[in-house]
Amino acid sequence: MTARVLAPTGQNVARCAQALLAGDLVAMPTETVYGLAGHALEPAALARIFATKERPTFDPLILHVALDLARPRLQQLAHLVDIERLSSHAQAQVERLLQAFWPGPLTLVLPRSSAVPDLATSGLPTVAVRMPRHPVALALIRAAGVPLAAPSANRFGRISPTHPDHVLAELGERIAWVLDGGPCEIGVESTVLAVSGRGELTLLRPGGLARTDLESVAGPVVAPGQAQPSEQVRLSEQGLLSESVRDAGMAAPGMLESHYAPRKPLTLLDSSVATLEPHTWQALAIPPSVRHLGLLLQSGDAQAGAARLQDHTGLHVTAISLSPDGDPADIARHLFAGLRALDASEAEWLLAEPCTQTVGLGHAIADRLRRASHGTRQP
Ligand code: TXA
Ligand code: MG
Repeated sequence: MTARVLAPTGQNVARCAQALLAGDLVAMPTETVYGLAGHALEPAALARIFATKERPTFDPLILHVALDLARPRLQQLAHLVDIERLSSHAQAQVERLLQAFWPGPLTLVLPRSSAVPDLATSGLPTVAVRMPRHPVALALIRAAGVPLAAPSANRFGRISPTHPDHVLAELGERIAWVLDGGPCEIGVESTVLAVSGRGELTLLRPGGLARTDLESVAGPVVAPGQAQPSEQVRLSEQGLLSESVRDAGMAAPGMLESHYAPRKPLTLLDSSVATLEPHTWQALAIPPSVRHLGLLLQSGDAQAGAARLQDHTGLHVTAISLSPDGDPADIARHLFAGLRALDASEAEWLLAEPCTQTVGLGHAIADRLRRASHGTRQP
């Protein structure tokens, strides 16, 4: 099977919706990354998602929905979420978040209802839900008339796809259809936020929506690493941290240290290439057999960055700049495509500049670069 990329016409969307209802999988565009969509309430379709991605079943899925925006929002999730398990304060928190940020790059982790198959939640008592804002995703969810489970449409642990060609490279032999929505607008995955029964908010994954935006609407947000040990116990009692996840040493499901990874080794630099000195280069201890480097610049001119590294090292350098003027939205939008292009280039070893921004999208960019470089031997 080789996947076909379909133009997002009404007819093709209807065809894909039929395929989803028959238990097949379809790759769909969202504003963050492309998702591998399947019928969220059909265990057989969920099992195909895990098999197609080679994803371990302890890593739960996000259910994508399309609400009627003219009506109160939380009530519309009653088939997926056990609203009774949320205090009235928590319900008000969730309604505020849904009003402010849906449709968009925010995933909420909430108490699940019994209608949600165990496979979707990895047996956790919670379920992750998101309403994307990409018009093709919304059209597909509405045409199917059921929630769609959709992890990023890449093989497990690899670089997320932000263009139909990336989906073909990852899963082209394993699925039939990719709905074409063009390049993704945001380029990093949604922000994942857990809401406890009492309405406390925990950031499980930084993403396309800034923590400061969440806090301006709903008050303080803690990150799992910041939580006190007692808080960690409470999170795990609520199922926000599962046994398997704690055993594997992860902060939250899916927050594996190595993720978004190119096939080639990737070293994350401490500072920009402009400040690289010969001794800092030597300290990187790149194996002497390497003749060709790939360089991912956060900003500036790719040619100039390549020339500077070439001068220091005497090696060939292929460089990509994510944003000439260092705009975080551009950097996020181009990040995964840049990593993917260097991975496919002649370069044998990749270097990436660090993200200097630590808030907003910078938080998500830094997180993805750290995970993409995890496991590459550091001196
Ligand atoms: O932007 C996105 O979120 C994309 C697009 C396709 O919507 N989807 C995506 O899915 O990134 P995926 O499967 O690659 O990441 C889902 C994340 C994982 O980190 C997973 O562990 C977490 O959501 N998650 C899902 N259900 C959860 C739950 N019940 N509790 C805690 N984390 C959960
Ligand atoms: Mg993913």
